[in-house]
Amino acid sequence: MKRLNSQLQEDGAPLELILLIRTLLAGCKEISFRVGQGELAGVLGSTLSDNVHGERQKKLDVISNQIIKDILKESGYVKAISSEEEDDVVPCHPEGKYLVSFDPLDGSSNTDINSLIGTIFSILHAPQWMEPDDPSAFLQPGTQMVAAGYVLYGPSTMLVLTTGRGTHIYTLDKTHGGFLLTKDNVQVPEDTKEFAINMSNQRHWEPPVQEYVSDLLAGETGPRGKNYNMRWVAAMVGDIHRLLCRGGIFAYPYDNRDPKKAGKLRLLYEANPMSFLMEQAGGMASTGQKRIMEIMPKEIHQRVPVVMGSKNEVEAMVAYYDKAE
Ligand code: F6P
Repeated sequence: MKRLNSQLQEDGAPLELILLIRTLLAGCKEISFRVGQGELAGVLGSTLSDNVHGERQKKLDVISNQIIKDILKESGYVKAISSEEEDDVVPCHPEGKYLVSFDPLDGSSNTDINSLIGTIFSILHAPQWMEPDDPSAFLQPGTQMVAAGYVLYGPSTMLVLTTGRGTHIYTLDKTHGGFLLTKDNVQVPEDTKEFAINMSNQRHWEPPVQEYVSDLLAGETGPRGKNYNMRWVAAMVGDIHRLLCRGGIFAYPYDNRDPKKAGKLRLLYEANPMSFLMEQAGGMASTGQKRIMEIMPKEIHQRVPVVMGSKNEVEAMVAYYDKAE
């Protein structure tokens, strides 16, 4: 089986980017090990502190953040990082060529039930003019990403990665510690009968989403003419991984619970990297009104509404927004 290094070279990734990705993955392997230790290592459960989003941090959120932060700071390849678990950007090396945004442990509420979790990341070029502590350099649209991916800590540890030449899936071989290519050039089926949305928020959604989902639920005698099934992992990495493997639509739309929040998911380290992977696999990613990767971020922790997955189904949902306009 092909190794990660060979695939990255074949995809034309520059040496320094390859070295950065391998450094980041060394951190992810350590997280994979810590996650696997679970209760035995006393790493489950919550801390007593909240992150910048007001969410109670899990012990594994803090541990994972520290592992990735330390390894990237020491690497010399990175000028600055932004993380879901850090209020501000963290300056790294003044000569670093890249910026890395990451969610160190997505879906961390799943840690206590031994369910899917993962690390999501996106990589941008660091502008030469930037000071390492300048957050404005991170405010680039997703179209500028040079690489994005996630590591899924499931029954096996998997890496899903793009450098803009297709989306590839690798599996960690824990016997020698390498990521081996197990599915190259993933293609998301254009049609689907599976949707993922947190139905408990239904009453808070905007009218186009209400209408779209009620038409899905109406099944084969409704306007969409087919029966749909529903899945919800409650960790974006888990839901997006399923979509990349067998298609589907995933949505975390705007809802009116808190008018200050444009959605739940964060642009830089959740929506953008997943959109890049999805588009490179032939899928589509939108806010409902706009391509996610074209959004010009206003701040590093910005939230956005998200709908992504099988192209024809995402287009169908977007049509409900268009009609409402
Ligand atoms: O980071 C946010 C997140 O955990 C995503 O991974 C996941 O898709 C979503 O929140 C789950 O939201 P909810 O708590 O509404 O199920």
